Amino acid sequence: MNGYEKLLNNVLKLAIVCNQWGDTGKGKIVDLFAEWADIIARGTGGANAGHTIRINGKEYIFHLIPSGILWDSNDKINIIGSGVAFDPRIAIEELAILKKEGKSYDKLQISLNAHLVLPQHLVMDRVKESDSSTGKIGTTGRGIGPLYVDHYDRIGLVVNDLLNKDIFAKKLKRNLAGKIKQLHLSDPNIVEKVMRHEHLENGIFYHPNEVFDVDAIIERYLSYGKELREMINNTEEFIRTSVNKSQKILLEGAQGLLLSVDYGTYPYVTSSDCSVSGLAKGVGISEKNIDLTLGIVKAFYMTRVGEGAFPTEIGGEDSAEWCGRKGVTKNLEKESFVGGSVNNNNEFEQGIAVRLAGNEYGATTGRPRRVGWLDLPLLRHAIKYNGQNIILTKLDVLNECEVIKVCDEYKYTGHTYFSGQRTIKAGEIIKTAIPSAEVLKYCQPVYKEFGGWKKDITGIRSWQDLPKKLKELCQYVSASTDTNIRILSVGPDRNETIFID
Ligand code: IMP
Repeated sequence: MNGYEKLLNNVLKLAIVCNQWGDTGKGKIVDLFAEWADIIARGTGGANAGHTIRINGKEYIFHLIPSGILWDSNDKINIIGSGVAFDPRIAIEELAILKKEGKSYDKLQISLNAHLVLPQHLVMDRVKESDSSTGKIGTTGRGIGPLYVDHYDRIGLVVNDLLNKDIFAKKLKRNLAGKIKQLHLSDPNIVEKVMRHEHLENGIFYHPNEVFDVDAIIERYLSYGKELREMINNTEEFIRTSVNKSQKILLEGAQGLLLSVDYGTYPYVTSSDCSVSGLAKGVGISEKNIDLTLGIVKAFYMTRVGEGAFPTEIGGEDSAEWCGRKGVTKNLEKESFVGGSVNNNNEFEQGIAVRLAGNEYGATTGRPRRVGWLDLPLLRHAIKYNGQNIILTKLDVLNECEVIKVCDEYKYTGHTYFSGQRTIKAGEIIKTAIPSAEVLKYCQPVYKEFGGWKKDITGIRSWQDLPKKLKELCQYVSASTDTNIRILSVGPDRNETIFID
């Protein structure tokens, strides 16, 4: 048995999640296991996620369709579960790409219970983010927060409504009523600008007095319903039956534990629960059904997009401010920091060099991702929810790095903070992060420094052949977080992977 087979021995339900703020190379790992799976299902997030897929030598960024769609086998079923924030416009765009490239999607199923992202969700998201008084999160602008608000406010519309004209129209009007009142209190110029955004089809849903042209929305979305009809199904029922039939199911997570609305660095999180339990619920099964959960950790650096504390950020506040500026793109960084080195003594420039080396620019928004050193207190927090089996990815990015810092613990520098029965005072050492934004922003990282391996590791295929310094670093991470490293990813390709027994 090779490492792949050993890992999957006796496994029928496998979940792939992320233990950080997303963007840890999940796409490659899901693709790796899609070959094994009969069913690949997504259960969280929406078009805020982005994975890069290569078709016939060309790169495409997909947001909604599960990563297993590219496997040519006619037997593989891809599922968009009920927990996904489903934007039909984006799904149809992605299906059109597949069609153009001659890829079949006959076996794609969309949950009839998934909540629908509608134009008003994009508008509410964008108008809120442009209002400084409500506290910016730095969202992707894909309507995710407002969609989940409607879900819990019991005024959401679901995929199945696309098939029933009268129900759709009635629910839509009810859903819009409160939002129109609210938008009438907002700056009309901002509302109009947002309504004319290309993601809102350049203004086709805009009505100058009523904000929304209800008939235009009904017409467009019912036509989406017609296009998607064959794929809409009771996927929860289907998955439960498949569980009983002992089929191999791969659950594909989105975002990461630290962005979970329940367990992440609230309020700077997304609005779904990105933990393995949220993922299981989002496809309609119990977490107990999962035989193996693998939590991805980018190493030995990590990234965050948008606002929120990032204790190990390389370049600190300067980096955060720079990455939040409009107009900062990969090209600008490439042109302005020619010859930048990951060993630069200037931390701000070092951060840019790491970002360029890891190509850390948002797949959904193109925004530069903030970069920092690997943070073990946050990892210790994440594995409480996602379990002890981890995968380290992007190990090759720091091949050239001379000194690698790992944050082993924090020193708290804020005011006295009461965390239940525990009192945290300035100077206290924190080993496992308290993800609350009020605490995290006063956590000063205490680093351990390691010498880099200074060697290209992408060609290496076994643990034994890895440089000693890299192995020591892995062993230190594993021992100090009580985790088992099961896989190392040493390059973007499928075969640039090392399984650890
Ligand atoms: P939203 O999910 O668009 O509401 O954004 C909320 C926060 O989650 C923002 O800080 C986003 O940058 C972050 N976020 C959402 N999706 C992703 C992702 O796929 N990768 C990284 N960050 C994400």
